[in-house]
Amino acid sequence: MADDATTDEATTDDPGDRRGDELGFATDGRRVDAAEFAAINARHWDDLAEAHDRGTGRFYDTDALIRGENPLWRVEREGLALGAPDGLDGLDVLHLQCHLAADAIHFARQGARVTGLDASLVALERAAARAERCGVDVRWVRADASSPPHDLDGGFDLVWATIGVTGWAHDLDRWTAACARLLRPGGRLVLIDVHPLYGMFATVTPPVADFPYGGGTVLAFDEGGSYDDPDAPVEATEAAVAAWDVGQHVAAAVRAGLTIEHLAEHTASEHDPRGMLTPEADGSCRLRLGPGQPPVPLLFTLVARR
Ligand SMILES: C[S@@+](CC[C@H](N)C(=O)[O-])C[C@H]1O[C@@H](n2cnc3c(N)ncnc32)[C@H](O)[C@@H]1O
Repeated sequence: MADDATTDEATTDDPGDRRGDELGFATDGRRVDAAEFAAINARHWDDLAEAHDRGTGRFYDTDALIRGENPLWRVEREGLALGAPDGLDGLDVLHLQCHLAADAIHFARQGARVTGLDASLVALERAAARAERCGVDVRWVRADASSPPHDLDGGFDLVWATIGVTGWAHDLDRWTAACARLLRPGGRLVLIDVHPLYGMFATVTPPVADFPYGGGTVLAFDEGGSYDDPDAPVEATEAAVAAWDVGQHVAAAVRAGLTIEHLAEHTASEHDPRGMLTPEADGSCRLRLGPGQPPVPLLFTLVARR
């Protein structure tokens, strides 16, 4: 009788399936491993960072940042109150997958010693230029979020990772374990991300799902523009994204030895992370699968303590 691997080999046609070191298919049909996925995403994020830094889209307004406006969304302010209940002054904070680092700059202004970590060199260069214009000091580290340098171990009171992070990790256990080792005892991870249910949809009117609800499936996409600006000039349009459900996030935190202090799913947000929703009369965006239907979650928050 064939063992599991042979059976899998013979029958699978799922574009997101995994075999050995291979994670799934690139958009041209090639089977690719973790290194190729990282390379695909690095090219994509370098281009997005350059496009977003132009400040022509919905999210990355450098002038507002220089003026000192608070860049945090409502759910992020709530998450920060749980992650740093006594305030940020004097804390060591890691802004994980910091992109253009508006949050890192905001935290530095609140008196935190801040490190911004990202895999994209272009993102870090643009983030550093923004921090300089804002007159704050931030330490920058270029690394994969799932394998940060060990000299950072145990160095942080708060690891802050929000809005568009774990989908770029092909191994959620490794990503979460890295967060755990970066924290000092008693430190907290605040993870706020697009809810995996919202992540399923290619369009919301009508609702059309093109992405699985979790399971660790990795799929490749080839789409122009970005969530910040559908007309953003992006040449490296290919990206590889993993689907992680809420249960997997909880299980990964537990396996990493973290104590979950808070888990919440949010059905309303003043900002739409994917740019597919129209704000309702109260100014909040909601995902409804039909007119008048109750909203389903857009975002989730997980706060866990080492
Ligand atoms: C949607 S942005 C995160 C938004 C960010 N929290 C902010 O405040 O704007 C995703 C970031 O994750 C980074 N990224 C993607 N894969 C990564 C990886 N494996 N390791 C580290 N950073 C990664 C990208 O370069 C990008 O800057």
